[in-house]
Amino acid sequence: MNTGSNTQHYHPAIKTFHWLVAVLVFAVWPLGFLLGMVKSGFHNDFFFWHASLGFTILWLMLARLCVRFLSDTPAKPSSMPGWLESAAHLNQWLLYLALITQPVIGFLLASAGSGQFVWFGVIPIPSPLGKAPTIAPTLAELHEFFAWVILVLVGLHICGALYHRVICRDDTLARMT
Ligand code: HEM
Repeated sequence: MNTGSNTQHYHPAIKTFHWLVAVLVFAVWPLGFLLGMVKSGFHNDFFFWHASLGFTILWLMLARLCVRFLSDTPAKPSSMPGWLESAAHLNQWLLYLALITQPVIGFLLASAGSGQFVWFGVIPIPSPLGKAPTIAPTLAELHEFFAWVILVLVGLHICGALYHRVICRDDTLARMT
């Protein structure tokens, strides 16, 4: 990964992946939350969109990670205190980790329950665990745990972006637009 370069903006592919994933997380999270509440007639539709869009996040995050390692990363504003820069850095990498781990757990969970997950109803994705009803409850708990972790991390990430934009009035947010 190249850091501290003279570049002022993230690579256009990273920007695209960033905003696509942001939109998808804002759709997938509530769809997942509502899964347990919707009437049975709608359950399959909610599950279809939750699982298929959620699995798309996995591939976007992996692609984004590749471009991130191969492209220059714009330098942080010099006015930023060291501890804040470390916290933002940690939050960013935990988000990468959580947004890659969560779709994998969701996919294993879906397959453990029904035997096979079919991405957008078109591409069957074979699971290494297959149908595994005994592990499904543990996967469901892990999936719920990571859902809350993602919510907290995204919340902190948005607070950080607003802090830079509104209080520091620096160009941190502009690097991603
Ligand atoms: C970043 C991507 C994802 C996020 C943020 C996410 C989030 C959530 C949330 C918030 C819930 C409700 C948890 C609860 O309160 O019990 C949920 C449930 C669920 N998700 Fe996901 N999910 C993602 C990806 C996936 C994928 C890719 C699949 C399947 C291929 C999947 C399958 C499921 C299933 C089966 C449930 C119901 C779990 C249960 O039985 O309680 N999720 N998800």
